[in-house]
Formats: sequence, C-alpha cells, structure tokens
Amino acid sequence: MQLLMMGAPGAGKGTQAAKLVDKYKIPQISTGDMFRAAVKDGTELGKRAKACMDAGQLVPDDVTIGIVRERLAKADCANGFILDGFPRTLAQAEALTKILDELGKKLTQVLNIHVPSEDLIERAIGRRICKNCGATYHVKFNAPKVADVCDACNGELFQRADDNETTMKNRLSVYENSTRPLIDYYKAEGIYSEIDGRQPIDKVTAELFKVLDGMK
Ligand code: AP5
Ligand code: MG
Ligand code: ZN
Repeated sequence: MQLLMMGAPGAGKGTQAAKLVDKYKIPQISTGDMFRAAVKDGTELGKRAKACMDAGQLVPDDVTIGIVRERLAKADCANGFILDGFPRTLAQAEALTKILDELGKKLTQVLNIHVPSEDLIERAIGRRICKNCGATYHVKFNAPKVADVCDACNGELFQRADDNETTMKNRLSVYENSTRPLIDYYKAEGIYSEIDGRQPIDKVTAELFKVLDGMK
C-alpha cells in the first residue's frame, strides 16, 4: 500500500501514521521528521532546513524532492509506505508521480485528515514529543501519565521549536496557499478520502482503518 497522509499542521498526520505503521507494517516517511533529524545532526541540509522551519516556511522544492526520491528507493519501501507531510506543493506532487512512475509504483490512497484551522493552534502549542522514541503527546488531548515523561520509554518530552503561535500562523497560511490546492489534484485522480479529524484519536484511527481495509 502506497499511502499519502494529508492534513494541515497539527491535524494529526504523525499521530495517525504511527497507528498505520503498527497495523500495516510499512514505514512512515515524514519529511518534517527527516529535516528535524538533519538539524539535530548539524548537516548542511539541516542548516538550510532550520531557517525555513523556524520561519514556518517550506524548505525549497528541489531539496525536499531530492530527499524523498532517495528515501523511496530504499528496500523497506518495497511493500509500501506512508508519506506524511509530502507533497506540499503542486511541484512536489508532480515530482512524486514521476518518482513513483520510475519505481513502477502508484499511490494507493490519499487520506486527508480534516481539522478546522481554529483548532490547530491549540493542538500545536500543547504538543509534546519524546526525545528518545519520538512518541507524540498533547498536554490536554493525549496527556502522558506523568507530566513531561514518555509513557512508552520514560524519555523526556520536549516542545518543537516551530510549535508557537507566531510560527504556527505562518505554517497555516502556507498550508492554505500551497498545500490545500493538492486536494483537488488528488480528487481528480480518484484516490482521495477525507476523514473528520475533530474526533478523538482512536475514532480517527478506526475511520482510517475502515477506508483502508475496505479497499482490499
Ligand atoms: P511537519 O513536521 O510535517 O509539520 P506539519 O505539517 O506542520 O505537521 P505537524 O507535524 O505539526 O502535525 P501533524 O499533522 O503531524 O500532527 P500530530 O499528529 O503531531 O513539517 C515541519 C516543517 O518542515 C514545515 O513547516 C516545513 O518547514 C518543513 N517541511 C516538512 N515537509 C515539507 C515539505 N514536503 N516541503 C517543504 N517543507 C517541508 O498532532 C498534533 C497534536 O495534536 C499532538 O499533540 C497530538 O497529540 C494532538 N492530536 C492528534 N490527533 C488528535 C485528535 N484527534 N484530537 C485531539 N488532539 C489530537
Ligand atoms: Mg507531524
Ligand atoms: Zn518515548
């Protein structure tokens, strides 16, 4: 299954992709996570990406397309993958079609988690992530049992640098201008489903499973 998880910043792409990884045993490919790993490692890519991410702007298409092209060619993608946060521009969507063509693959389904923008700032500001295993929490909607400690591995939780109100407003406006138009692109391809992301996390997961299991 070649899946694409769409949705505005904070809609729940990462949270839900983790559930799909567990069930379908295919890797999650998050360009945001890849850029954050590069920032942590202090690579040239990381330096370039950090300035864009801190401003809530997109990393340039050529850079982003290049890392996805390399990632999709890896052996663990042979049986499928879950793209999370890519593509975000029409140029990226067209490049993805081309990359998949070259690999002899096609997208199976596009899953768009829809959450109205007024809910998204609260979701981002309350998000906490485990430094050790990457598990995602929310101080109100998905709180860890002990504040700032990961339930799964006892790791320390941190807040992303771009999860503040100012940067989040920029991220939302970039989404509206550059990424939302991709909905029509994938609707035209006939592989688009929309899920109501305002429901509790487990309900959203159940709806995603229903769409995907219904396709088999
Ligand atoms: P990226 O890391 O992809 O960030 P994003 O798209 O802004 O999305 P988020 O990760 O913020 O949200 P999410 O949908 O994964 O939500 P989550 O599940 O964590 O990108 C970061 C930056 O990298 C970009 O701004 C850009 O600079 C760069 N970048 C990345 N990809 C790029 C690309 N393709 N091209 C160019 N640049 C790129 O959930 C959010 C919170 O809500 C959590 O706390 C969670 O617990 C909670 N939550 C989840 N579901 C629910 C629910 N159902 N109810 C209540 N709370 C919920
Ligand atoms: Mg994410
Ligand atoms: Zn952890």
